[in-house]
Amino acid sequence: MTHYYQLSASEFDWKTSDKRTITSWGFNKSFPGPTLKAKKGDEMVIRVKNNLPEATVIHWHGIRLPAIMDGTNIVQNPIKPGEEFEYRFAVPDAGTFWYHSHFNETKQMEQGMYGALIVEDESDPVFDDEKIFIMDDIKLNRSGEFKQGNFIQRWQERHDGRQGEIILVNGKENPVININAGQTERWRFINAASARYFRLSFGGRPFRIIGTDGGLIERPVDVTELLLVPGERIDLAVGPFNEEDAFSINTLKYDRMTFVRSRNSQLATVKVGPSQSSVTDLPGKLRDIQSLAPQEAEATRKIKFSVGASLKHGIDFLVNGEMHNNDKPVYVGDLQVWEIANKSLMDHPFHLHGYFFQVIEENGKTPAYMAWKDTYNLKPKSKIKIAWIPDNRPGMWMYHCHILEHHEAGMMGHFEVIDPSKGPSDKVHHHHHISHH
Ligand code: C2O
Ligand code: CU
Repeated sequence: MTHYYQLSASEFDWKTSDKRTITSWGFNKSFPGPTLKAKKGDEMVIRVKNNLPEATVIHWHGIRLPAIMDGTNIVQNPIKPGEEFEYRFAVPDAGTFWYHSHFNETKQMEQGMYGALIVEDESDPVFDDEKIFIMDDIKLNRSGEFKQGNFIQRWQERHDGRQGEIILVNGKENPVININAGQTERWRFINAASARYFRLSFGGRPFRIIGTDGGLIERPVDVTELLLVPGERIDLAVGPFNEEDAFSINTLKYDRMTFVRSRNSQLATVKVGPSQSSVTDLPGKLRDIQSLAPQEAEATRKIKFSVGASLKHGIDFLVNGEMHNNDKPVYVGDLQVWEIANKSLMDHPFHLHGYFFQVIEENGKTPAYMAWKDTYNLKPKSKIKIAWIPDNRPGMWMYHCHILEHHEAGMMGHFEVIDPSKGPSDKVHHHHHISHH
């Protein structure tokens, strides 16, 4: 089946609460943009019309699509104001994905240019209901605008990433979420913030993780809190709760070594309604995930994330000692084992475009559970080893820190996936790689 969508990017007024209206940028005058839906294996045709005063490009975060549809400025020319571009791709995996601007992101994403893309599958577990939570925060100046501050504030933002005190859940401040007592729902969380880490807690109530970036995990994992970093998704089984229970969804303090201190904040209020019967059927076994490589597999590539002093900017964010690193190619079908070291004293969410990886080792240990990931947090002074296989989708791809200001400040690498029978492409857009503005 083919799903046709039209997304028109423009500026519009958006009410985040009864007391606040902001001038946002987004799709179809909605913050976040419309939720795009498909079934595993379907085709999507999405026409993006740019009615903004500046160019844009739309990236489909987590979708294993052809390189030319990835929506970055290394694979396509930006969509100029007044112009249209048609994205067309199949969605091979079920899970929680999202789309967002991949051009002047520190402004465009901060102002709301993102939305959810949900791919369902017949074999998905059955729940009483499902909700999507797109998490964000915004930073406004005293006049309630998105403008950047003075030199010092900009320097701090370059270091920390842009983090604001107004937290938005699906574009709203502290919304009320309703759930019936006795029922269990699937809650899909997407972190669309420029830099904020959400350490989610439901007032200490237990919940179960059932999926991550690349869809379901092998079996549900019981937790009482979890860390959701920029770009990352997590699917939860939430409930059942008792009648008349009420609690808030909070983000707990998480120190990612920023200048601005982290604190606990309330994100939403959950109200539990009258009891209803339940049809939820959550099996103990959700999926099989075949391991790509053992923990001790030797690294085929080493990547270093670091920061460096810069005369011009105070601080630069580097991959292998360079801003916007031009990394070596990989060949279709060759198992990749990448060791990624974070040499800096801050956290960085590592994101690989277009392919899922498995984390096979983190600081000498195997992770708590197997999962397909496209975004994974690198703690300060830590090292992870990931395994992935470039399937047959040759072209230019990239990886980067998903803190948007760090990405912009250089913390990214691009590389080519080469089909050995065809050889390297002519890299048409290669010279564009630092044209973020
Ligand atoms: Cu969601 Cu290149 O990013
Ligand atoms: Cu970073």
